[in-house]
Amino acid sequence: MINAGVITVSYIIATILFILALGGLSDQETARRGNWYGIIGMAIALAATVLGVVTQHYTILFAALLIGGSIGIVAARRVQMTQMPELVAILHSLVGAAAVAVGYANFMDPNKHLVGVELTIHDIETYLGILIGAVTLSGSVIAFGKLSGRIGGQPLTLPARHWLNLGLLIASFWFGYEFVVQSSAGGGMIPLLIMTVIALLFGIHMVMAIGGADMPVVVSMLNSYSGWAAAATGFMLNNDLLIVTGALVGSSGAILSYIMCRAMNRKFIAVIAGGFGTGGGTAAASGEQEGEIVAIEAEETAALLVDAKEVMIIPGYGMAVAQAQHIVYEITKILRAKGVNVRFAIHPVAGRMPGHMNVLLAEAKVPYDIVFEMDEINEDFPNVDVSMVIGANDIVNPSALDEPDGPIGGMPVIECWKGKTTIVLKRSMATGYAGVQNPLFFKENTRMLFGDAKDTLDAVFKLL
Ligand code: TAP
Repeated sequence: MINAGVITVSYIIATILFILALGGLSDQETARRGNWYGIIGMAIALAATVLGVVTQHYTILFAALLIGGSIGIVAARRVQMTQMPELVAILHSLVGAAAVAVGYANFMDPNKHLVGVELTIHDIETYLGILIGAVTLSGSVIAFGKLSGRIGGQPLTLPARHWLNLGLLIASFWFGYEFVVQSSAGGGMIPLLIMTVIALLFGIHMVMAIGGADMPVVVSMLNSYSGWAAAATGFMLNNDLLIVTGALVGSSGAILSYIMCRAMNRKFIAVIAGGFGTGGGTAAASGEQEGEIVAIEAEETAALLVDAKEVMIIPGYGMAVAQAQHIVYEITKILRAKGVNVRFAIHPVAGRMPGHMNVLLAEAKVPYDIVFEMDEINEDFPNVDVSMVIGANDIVNPSALDEPDGPIGGMPVIECWKGKTTIVLKRSMATGYAGVQNPLFFKENTRMLFGDAKDTLDAVFKLL
């Protein structure tokens, strides 16, 4: 056993490490270090809690740690990069479930001897913890289902759904009041159970109403909720570290949601209100498009690349699916050796999770100084000879700018069509995540290189 002073100091060190971790993760050059800060911080937090706060039932605790840790290791080893958002979603549901469980355990604790204002405050903490936890739990399970394709991406738009949500919210307040009143008289279980059911239904309805294209924002919003649920649990358990960590997760998730909304030009409230986007990946009707599709082969692609002075590579979700990042970098090295200036343009929501493309490029060891954010690079396209779009679709869709009222209208995109030639690598004419047609493919200066991105790039590499 360690004493209270050591626990406090350990918690402060862990808090500092968590803050350093967040700071480190904001830049790819420091991300690895940031990750280590997080790991060490969490190890210190766990050790201090197990050795200092827990006083009994060690067998159950270690059995749970062993089972949970093993499941975590197996899941993390098995998960593909493209399934990462699903894994994150289902992990959020566990945070929600834990908050609900702790809330009930706390409420039913026979050793609790609070009265008066203290009891009221404790009851409100318990109620809020269970409420946020239950919304996070069911919302994250639905988000997992949607992201993994088990539930369709179409938004469920019930008639009068906003009124339904408002009704559920008012009912939650009412049962909260009932719970606090009944709890001081020794009861309160019934309103607590009813609220839990309402919160679970609310979580399901909220995420069901959100369409495919807004799912990234929802995952990050649920991340934020899971943080607040953890913070509420910290209040219930009188654990300062849990309060601080929960608040860090809650606020960073909220900031990330805001950044993503801006990148997709969506209003946060509109996202939460739902009803946007489709399941994605549908075959697009090309009839109404002006212009023709011009397909090319690897030979012509290689020739265009070696003749270019400025090449811009725009990776998207398809590069992740094809695992083409390594061959992309091999091609980059050859071109750079031939004096071609090769750069990468990254859209903030390319792929399926924030930073997806940066992670893949870092894995392939692409130097950071040739990787640029969309905002840094968009003005340079008039000087670009060849843009190579590798498995990207929505993030290079000119209709986002040309059709402000269209499904992705107003979303900032990488404006590659302003360059001399754009080569798009994809397997078919299927749409991207948002399920909308892409006029880029029909532009005069666009060439389509059909096939799995890894196979076609392998062929280009051999020719180079
Ligand atoms: P998408 O618009 O989804 O387009 C990806 C394209 O890659 C598809 O059109 C597909 O066409 C192609 N593709 C798939 N597998 C391929 C392969 N093996 N080889 C070659 N091409 C392949 O991707 P994007 O442009 O990166 O845009 C991201 C979209 O996802 C946005 O709508 C964004 O809002 C959404 N989203 C983003 C996130 C985050 S946070 N990044 C999370 C969830 C959703 P074919 O089928 O014809 O090959």
